[in-house]
Amino acid sequence: MDFDPNLTPYKQKLMLALDVDSREKAEEWVHKLKAHVGYFKVGLQLFTKEGPELVRSIRARGGRIFLDVKYHDIPNTVAKACESASALGVDFINVHALGGREMMRAAAESLAATSARMRLAKPRLLAVTILTSHDARSLGQEVGLKGRPEAEVRRLALLAKAAGCDGVVCSPREIKLVREACGKGFIIVTPGVRPPGAPKHDQKRTLGSGAALAAGADYLVVGRPITEAPDPVEAVLALARDMRASMEAAPAGAKAAQGRATAGAAGASKGRGKAGGAKAKSKAAAGRRA
Ligand code: C5P
Repeated sequence: MDFDPNLTPYKQKLMLALDVDSREKAEEWVHKLKAHVGYFKVGLQLFTKEGPELVRSIRARGGRIFLDVKYHDIPNTVAKACESASALGVDFINVHALGGREMMRAAAESLAATSARMRLAKPRLLAVTILTSHDARSLGQEVGLKGRPEAEVRRLALLAKAAGCDGVVCSPREIKLVREACGKGFIIVTPGVRPPGAPKHDQKRTLGSGAALAAGADYLVVGRPITEAPDPVEAVLALARDMRASMEAAPAGAKAAQGRATAGAAGASKGRGKAGGAKAKSKAAAGRRA
């Protein structure tokens, strides 16, 4: 096993998807991997079952949290929900960009106000642009968005940025277009990461961790490639090695940009719990989008 400290900044970019159905199993993963990954993603299944107590327990064990609950409601309700999430001390939270500018702005303002009042680091607010379970047909005929999915993702990412979101969650295929549209410093979190040659499970379009980073992602949400590996710590290290290799091969500009993102992540972790410490960051018609 390789505990090369040079891999640490890359391991910190990994968000482990806690796709388990109980607090006990989640806590086991936190115990096993808290020294090896940056964040633990708590999604709707686990949060609905285990609630805020689980979030508190992960924090008490030293884990940092991406609360993946994708709020989408009227601005006042989302603002109140964000107030509760801020008070829990999560590090990342998300909303649907389709909730609109006013809703996203209300979320951003609520996070800023609550965390300042409670002297906690502000959770970073991510927007989900278009769910990757949509294709061009369902997006056009059911949701009523007639633009190409990529164009809608771009438009919504820009709207999210203008509304005060810190970044977006997007599929690997959308990283480049979001980075080009929204520029450096706008956080891009991507799921669908698979080491080359590894099983894809139900992910349709995947990228290796190094390729995702090279395309412009800041954080990678990874579940089964780690949790189903015979040695999960070794799986984390392999993902981190691939990231490091791709950054070493990247042009100087890309390296500098990644350096800044890494510094931002480290700052956020240090500032957690202290006031102000974490001011940090087609062809779709042919099928499903991620
Ligand atoms: O096991 P795997 O690496 O596929 O897990 C990916 C995680 O990212 C899961 O929690 C999944 O719900 C989430 N996700 C995704 N695709 C999206 C959005 C979120 O796989 N478009």
